[in-house]
Amino acid sequence: MTVEAIRKVGVLGCGLMGAGIAQVAATAGYPTVVKEVGEEFLKKGMAGIEKSLAKFVEKGTLTIEQRSETLARLKGTTKFEDLADCDIVIEAITENLQTKRETFAAIDGIVKPTSIFASNTSSLVITEMMTATKRVDRFIGMHFFNPVPLMKLVEIVGTITTSSDVLDLTMKFGASLGKVPIRTSDRSGFIVNRLLVPYLLDAIRALEEGVGSVEDIDKGMKLGCGYPMGPFTLLDFVGLETTYYIANIMYEEFREKRFAPPPLLKRLVLAGHHGRKTGRGFYDHQDPANPKPLF
Ligand code: 3HC
Repeated sequence: MTVEAIRKVGVLGCGLMGAGIAQVAATAGYPTVVKEVGEEFLKKGMAGIEKSLAKFVEKGTLTIEQRSETLARLKGTTKFEDLADCDIVIEAITENLQTKRETFAAIDGIVKPTSIFASNTSSLVITEMMTATKRVDRFIGMHFFNPVPLMKLVEIVGTITTSSDVLDLTMKFGASLGKVPIRTSDRSGFIVNRLLVPYLLDAIRALEEGVGSVEDIDKGMKLGCGYPMGPFTLLDFVGLETTYYIANIMYEEFREKRFAPPPLLKRLVLAGHHGRKTGRGFYDHQDPANPKPLF
C-alpha cells in the first residue's frame, strides 16, 4: 500500500544503492524518477534493476505483469528538473559531503518546497547536508542496506530540526516500501554501522594479531553465531574503500580507537584491493562462485 501523501518518488544516483532504492519504490507502486549524471551510469543502473527483477520473477515473488508494471513506473533522467514534482527525493550519490551539499542546494530551488529531502548516507552528518537547503524541517536520513531489494531494514534519521510530521510520514513511507523502519538520531553511523563497523574492524585486527585466518574467522561468525556472511566476506561485499571511508568519518566524530581503521585495511585500499568489485580484497574473486582467501 502506497502512502497517499507521496505520489511520486525521486532518487538521486543510480549506483548500487540508488538503483536498489528506485527499484523498491517502483515495485511498491510509486511512479519513480531516478537521476544520474550521465546516460552510461543510468544504463548500468537500470540493467541492474532489470536483473534483480528478473531474479524475483524466477523465484516467483514477482509476477511477469508486476515486473512490467514496475519498469513502466520507473523513469531515468539526467536532468534535475525532472524531480520538480516529486514528494520525496532520496539522495544516494557519492559519499562526499561537498558534492552532496552542492546537489541538495541545486535541487532546493527546483523541487517543490513541500517535498521531503532524504539522504541515504551511511556515516556523514545529515545536519551538515540539511544546511545547504532552506527546508531544514523537511530534511531527513533514510539509510538503506545492501542489497536494497533484499535487506528488510531502513534507518530513519531525524535531525534536531526535522518536523515530527515529516518523521512520521517517512516512517510510513519506509514501511510502504516493504521495509522495517527504525528511528535513530543524527550521529555518525546511526544504529547499524555504529555496531557493525567496529565489529568488522576488529575482525581485521584479529587477523593482524594472528588469532585466525580469514577463512576461519569467517567460519567462526557464520557457523558459531549464525551470521549470513563472515566479517571478511561482508567486508569484500560492502567494499573495503567504503568501510575505510566510513571508519574514518566515525573516528573523526567520536575519536574512539574502536572506529580507527587498522593498517591492513588502509594498505589494501591504497593497493586498490577493494573487494568483490575489483576482484580482490580479503578474498580473490576471480571465480565469483568460489572466492579464495588471501590471508
Ligand atoms: N535482487 C534480487 N535477488 C538477489 C539480489 C538482488 N539484488 N542479490 C542476491 N539475490 C538472490 C541471489 O541471486 C540468490 O538467489 P538464488 O537463491 O536463486 O541463488 C538469493 O538472493 C540468495 O543469495 P545468495 O545465494 O547469493 O546468498 P545468501 O543466501 O547468503 O543471501 C544475502 C544473500 C541476502 C546478501 C545474505 O548473504 C546477507 O544477508 N548478507 C549480509 C548482507 C549485509 O549485511 N548487508 C548489509 C551491509 S552494510 C550496509 O549496507 C550499510 C552500509 O552503510 C555500509
